[in-house]
Amino acid sequence: MEKTIKSIILAAGKGTRMKSQTPKVLHKIFNKELLAYVIDALNNTGKAEENYIIVGHCADQVEDFVKKTYQNAHCRLQSPQKGTGHAALQAYDDLKGFCGEVIILNGDIPLLTTETLNKFIEEHRKNNNALTVMSAILDDPSNYGRIVRADNGDLKAIVEEKDATDEQKKIKEINTGVYLLDWEKVHEAFLHLDSNNAQQEYYLTDIVKWTIDNGLKARSYVLENNEESFGINSRKQLAEAAKILQNRVNNKLMEEGVTIVDPETTYISPDTEIDSDTIVYPCTYIEGKNKIGKDCKIGPFARLRGGVEIGNSVKIGNFVEIKKTKIKDHTNVCHLSYVGDSELGSNVNIGAGTITANYNHITKEKFKTVIDDNASTGSNSVIVAPAHIGENASIGAGSVISKDIEANALGLTRAPLKILKGWFDRMKK
Ligand code: UD1
Ligand code: MG
Repeated sequence: MEKTIKSIILAAGKGTRMKSQTPKVLHKIFNKELLAYVIDALNNTGKAEENYIIVGHCADQVEDFVKKTYQNAHCRLQSPQKGTGHAALQAYDDLKGFCGEVIILNGDIPLLTTETLNKFIEEHRKNNNALTVMSAILDDPSNYGRIVRADNGDLKAIVEEKDATDEQKKIKEINTGVYLLDWEKVHEAFLHLDSNNAQQEYYLTDIVKWTIDNGLKARSYVLENNEESFGINSRKQLAEAAKILQNRVNNKLMEEGVTIVDPETTYISPDTEIDSDTIVYPCTYIEGKNKIGKDCKIGPFARLRGGVEIGNSVKIGNFVEIKKTKIKDHTNVCHLSYVGDSELGSNVNIGAGTITANYNHITKEKFKTVIDDNASTGSNSVIVAPAHIGENASIGAGSVISKDIEANALGLTRAPLKILKGWFDRMKK
């Protein structure tokens, strides 16, 4: 039977350099929290059964987010914060008697992928390690903990920059802060941590030395792509990570047969699936979880805000915003429209400037619009939800529709047109 994994995610630190009221791990890329990237990457391995998030700074905010988003994640408070080892220790009681593996990592590394985590776990198992630490070789290793090896190349310890000798500071292999432990063998290391170091903190890194000193096998796994360990500490790094993610997603989609006319100005969240032969035009922004079919045309200047499911051969044109909406095949929303909390059938034509009015500002409630196959809305129509527009129904241009329109009918709200002849001449006099 495959071993199960539980994770400890360190997220109690202040994130001072963000200069923010929002805790660092709740800052977002493509409208998704940094912490969510880490938890999703773990959950997507299919091996992580439970995640313990160590919170401290703005603990309530982080806990609220975790509770409403994940069933298999639980927060544990670290107060005061006495270092990374002390942070991990806060989940120690939860892991009492656990016989599987524990992965420990930071909550601010959104670029770490599920594929890398899987390789890391496989390597750990293949080598029968008691502990594996993920390392990286950096041209500029400053500020990181260094991987110190014995003359025969075996891992010896991790030494923090502030505790390192000049010789150790030259080491380019660094600790990324991701560890996998055979919990049964290594859990005791946490009972032997002390704060006899330059920062007077309980260092998590000291578990490596404990493992080796106790005759257990510890190895490093060298990251193939260094950017995966990129930790976010500032707004500038947040933007850099977003850029990396943007390129990664666009390249992957293009490899899979999606045309992206201008990758530089096209932003697509990693949780968006797009099928082949769809074309995404410039200045398109797609955030959250979405699914787009084959042969669609999206943009230019389109915005999908998440929860959008689009079939095949659908057109979403310029200045169109779509949120939480299902759209079936051959439907067009070509210009200047807002479609939210809706279901559109196939072969529907949404006229320019159609708005689904889905939100009651006073009660804060949202309502649904359903438009069946072959229906059409004229330009500048407003559909006040909840509303159901039947099959083949039409809505006249400029209408405000506040009732259901039955199949095959025309819905029209329009003041009669007056024509005042000779108006120009009268005005002139
Ligand atoms: C740590 C490692 C270092 C590694 C680097 C990688 C230690 C002692 N050092 O250093 O070897 O190269 O990460 O990024 O572990 N945190 C808490 N509670 C605390 C302290 C920290 O939850 O009391 C959290 C922080 O929020 C952060 C993570 O732990 O997510 C790492 O803390 P940080 O202070 O950044 O550690 P580094 O000094 O960078
Ligand atoms: Mg750090």
